Amino acid sequence: MSIAFHAERQSFKLDTAGSSYIIKIHHNGFLSCVYYGAYIPDDNLTDFERRHVYASFSAWPPGTEPYTFTPDTCPMEIGCNGGCDMRQSSVRVRNADGNAVSDFRYVSHRIEAGKPAIPGLPALYENEPGDCETLVITTRDETTGAEMDLYYTVFTKHAAMTRAAVIRNASDKDLEIEQALSFCLDLNRSDFDLISLHGKHMQERDFCRRPIGHGIQGIYSRRGSSGHQFNPFIALIDRSGNEDRGGAYGFNLVYSSNFKALTEVDYNGSTRVIMGLGDDDFGWRLAPGESFYTPEAVLVYSNEGLGGMSRTFHRLYNENLVRGDWKRRHRPLLINNWEGTYFDFDEEKLFAIAKWAKETGLEMFVMDDGWFGKRDDDTSGLGDWFVNENKIHGGLPALVKRVKDLGLKFGIWFEPEMISPDSDLFREHPDWAIHVPNRPSSIGRHQLILDMTREDVRDYIFGRMYDIISSTGADYVKWDFNRNMTEAGSALLPPDRQKEFYHRYILGVYALIDRLLTAFPHLLLEGCSGGGGRYDPGMMYYSPQIWCSDNTDALSRVDVQFGSSLCYPASVQGAHVSASPRASYETKRNVAMWGSFGYELDPAKISEEARAEIRTQIADYHRYYDLIHFGDLYRLISPWDDPYKAAWQFVDPEKTETLVTVLIKFMMRERNFFLRLKGLDPDAYYRLDENGEVYSGALLMNAGLNLSFMPNEDGFSKTFHFTKVEA
Ligand code: GLA
Repeated sequence: MSIAFHAERQSFKLDTAGSSYIIKIHHNGFLSCVYYGAYIPDDNLTDFERRHVYASFSAWPPGTEPYTFTPDTCPMEIGCNGGCDMRQSSVRVRNADGNAVSDFRYVSHRIEAGKPAIPGLPALYENEPGDCETLVITTRDETTGAEMDLYYTVFTKHAAMTRAAVIRNASDKDLEIEQALSFCLDLNRSDFDLISLHGKHMQERDFCRRPIGHGIQGIYSRRGSSGHQFNPFIALIDRSGNEDRGGAYGFNLVYSSNFKALTEVDYNGSTRVIMGLGDDDFGWRLAPGESFYTPEAVLVYSNEGLGGMSRTFHRLYNENLVRGDWKRRHRPLLINNWEGTYFDFDEEKLFAIAKWAKETGLEMFVMDDGWFGKRDDDTSGLGDWFVNENKIHGGLPALVKRVKDLGLKFGIWFEPEMISPDSDLFREHPDWAIHVPNRPSSIGRHQLILDMTREDVRDYIFGRMYDIISSTGADYVKWDFNRNMTEAGSALLPPDRQKEFYHRYILGVYALIDRLLTAFPHLLLEGCSGGGGRYDPGMMYYSPQIWCSDNTDALSRVDVQFGSSLCYPASVQGAHVSASPRASYETKRNVAMWGSFGYELDPAKISEEARAEIRTQIADYHRYYDLIHFGDLYRLISPWDDPYKAAWQFVDPEKTETLVTVLIKFMMRERNFFLRLKGLDPDAYYRLDENGEVYSGALLMNAGLNLSFMPNEDGFSKTFHFTKVEA
């Protein structure tokens, strides 16, 4: 059984495919985490339950024998505010008396097959019957009548769990939630390094590793989206751990707005991890009988270092997060006109690109920004989702028909959450833009943001998108979001509920996307936010691929792809070959093939040689699709270890084939260069496609490939494909 309750010892044991988690219900009803880490067969950890209670200063809670227990030194499952636990809290509820003290204690529990959905929020789901099981523990604060359910789902095929909480007002007075994080986890040690992913537009998800020490370290967003600056992901790894070895805990929040993720090393040398929706400028009024659902967090444990942790995230997300028609189906090989034309196009220019794409073997044409309203640059038109017939003469259905008659699919760009001050929509409905009273709104990329907390706004945008998609039969939508949120307020929320704005906004966005996908269940949605500014599992639940970065320079973009791979699979990564000057088309293709692949250029502007080279690249997309999208990734040489070169490898789950890519970013590599592969069957033999040479898996993993005579040139890259052969 994956979740077991031991009545006599009052403890739960939650086992996943590779981890164990043990929770104790103390005599006074407090819940603590006795153990979380690699799988252990034991379920009696009574020895580990006791903690020192200091004679001075550590208070013991009501109903507790003096000096026997204090939450301040105990690994707590809930970080209650205002009581004995002096560390960072994970929940803060202000009651009608004006204080925010709470004391959540065990009331009951239930164990359920499968995994319940979270109303209004994206979440992992049960993929096949029996692949997950859920424990729900109900706790209650007697003084206020606030109740909190803790949700733990374990995955039987992956070393992964999810955690989330529901806060319920079981009293007869209003409560104000000021903080509602998804989980609190106290680990009994602090000899970890913290890993996080930071960045900016064009340079997302850079890798940062540093030791944790006493006090608080962490990341957050206050941008109204998960953001380019910090991805909602952190990992803790043993100090001696690396890509292949050591214990690694990964934490990822399934949410696309403000968040926080902190580690705190306390005075006893234990480490608290908390993660959830951002609590700066957050509040939620909870009337009697109402419930508040937190977003869900994903917890992965691996004792095969960062590589093992990443592969677990990848498999889990491919199976239990990404949904819909396009989950396993090969997505069309696309061409997007953005970097080829920017705003400067008409229907003939677009059709010429589509025609070339068809002749070259591509499968979908995507029309990017600039086709609607008055939109010749980024200063106007957002919100006016009517085709601009000065650019697309004859209208959109006619253009789409011509493209489809070629035998291509058609995709279209929207930025549904935005409104330009210079737009008919804004002139008609200025209060539809988010704003606060008596204060001018700050402008980003010449645009404001629509108030997605409002149903009328969502209805309007849905109506426009519905019209365009149904009248053209578009197969794909790129959903963009191109600024941070400022002066965040809604004309419809009363002053005492403005603190609910950010969360209500993203709930509105999720509801709108959900409605669109319900209306068009076969639509392929690609997420985007100035590249990868909303590259999070919340969005991946709706869009099976997300444009990973506006950086299409293969030599630097590869770093973004490495960082993204810490927890996100190749299948969700939108990656394009563009006309960017720094690398050959072969290298651009080799880098872009690490994801849902496409082109982003105007063929009229590139050389005949480049066009001919592209023609040769197409076949490999479908040939390696399953291997790359659903295979196991091994990072062989990562940018955080080597600034000059990079190498990565995909191996199929049965270990029958592997694709290795090596990239020389800068010609400073060692002249003798042996690249050791990973993840193969040491006893099997593998044939290299290009010359038919056969090597044992053991040789490839221990001696490696001799690449000493490979060209040592800036931007040179090469792929090696091996297939298992009978010995
Ligand atoms: C964002 C996207 C780009 C492109 C432009 C259009 O920057 O990331 O791919 O769609 O918007 O304005």
